[in-house]
Amino acid sequence: MNDTNKPTILVTGGAGYIGSHMCVELLQSEFNVVVVDNLCNSSSASVEAVQRITQKPLTFVEGDICDQNKLDEIFRSHPIEGVLHFAGLKAVGESNEKPLAYYKNNIYGTMNLVESMARAGCKTLVFSSSATVYGTSENAPFNETEPTSATNPYGRTKLMVEQFLQDLHASDPEWRISLLRYFNPVGAHPSGEIGEDPNQIPNNLMPYISQVAVGKLPHLNIFGDDYPTPDGTGVRDYVHVVDLVRGHLKAMEHLADEPKLAIHNLGTGQGYSVLDVVHAFEKVSGVKIPYKIAERRPGDVAQSFADPAKANEELDWSAEYDLERMCEDAWRWQHNFPDGFAKAS
Ligand code: NAD
Ligand code: WQD
Repeated sequence: MNDTNKPTILVTGGAGYIGSHMCVELLQSEFNVVVVDNLCNSSSASVEAVQRITQKPLTFVEGDICDQNKLDEIFRSHPIEGVLHFAGLKAVGESNEKPLAYYKNNIYGTMNLVESMARAGCKTLVFSSSATVYGTSENAPFNETEPTSATNPYGRTKLMVEQFLQDLHASDPEWRISLLRYFNPVGAHPSGEIGEDPNQIPNNLMPYISQVAVGKLPHLNIFGDDYPTPDGTGVRDYVHVVDLVRGHLKAMEHLADEPKLAIHNLGTGQGYSVLDVVHAFEKVSGVKIPYKIAERRPGDVAQSFADPAKANEELDWSAEYDLERMCEDAWRWQHNFPDGFAKAS
């Protein structure tokens, strides 16, 4: 049952990796939460786990953001004051194979959402963008004025949504829109009850390492050791998922001041190499991570890390958790639930 004294937030994609962590923070920060998710890359077990962690209820609607009637019905049924929009497809490689699925879910889905919001008079939106919009730039640390570009359909969906939301705000400055460019979200809730649960063999480094550690995969392939970085392996800005979602609460506070469209990086500002991550993971887990050096992965850049100064100053946000803590929490989740939510449910 919703508490009528608390503001209600709609979390699209709230059953997913980042969305589920967001729901925990929202419930613990005295918001009512409505989740819409079609479960195409997640399980309702995560929504149950969120309620177990917080001992608070949320409203879960199984539905697709491409379904306009469903969205309108959600806005009619709940006094939604703001939307945190995580729903979308996110695998770079898959986006090359299924570009239309990516354009439909990520672009058309977001247009639908925004139309339903406008009809309901709800004009506060936080959008999950990505550091992928910095394309192949070699100018790390990236600040928000860095020219944007994309090299794959996934990246183009993020860029296009950023652009049409900017056009929307220009046409109607009453909108309050936050575009948050995430660097590399990793880790899990410290309870070990929710975390990243890839459907197939992980594409991303941290879940791959976790699955090697738990014995589901034999070894890590390190994609290139001849990059112009201190140890030759790729450098990224890993940010703990709990820090990341806290940035969203700060972004909502920033939007509450006055209508605006704001763009912020969410990263630590610190780059770590693949080998740094392997060693940190080995240290906290006590498990050896066997690896082989493989070819560079097409499309990868040598290094990507944030200049987080704008988020530090304007949002009063900075990441608290270090790399070892990211690995420790990722490992706890993987160790508790080696088969992810399939096992949990
Ligand atoms: P995720 O796949 O775990 O979560 C996305 C959720 O959206 C899933 O639960 C999925 O079932 C749902 N969904 C997808 N299409 C939908 C649709 N049409 N209607 C309703 N629900 C739908 O991914 P995540 O890692 O939690 O990412 C959340 C957002 O953050 C995505 O927009 C992603 O592009 C963005 N992002 C993620 C990363 C990352 O590395 N994880 C980095 C930058 C940006
Ligand atoms: C990190 C580093 C790899 C896997 C991707 C998306 C980006 C954003 C975040 C959504 C790189 C190396 C990886 C492996 C490896 N997502 N690696 N072996 O590529 O920085 O970003 O996720 O917006 O758009 O592109 O993250 O975790 O895949 O890779 O050596 O099995 O680990 O080469 O240097 P990436 P990642």
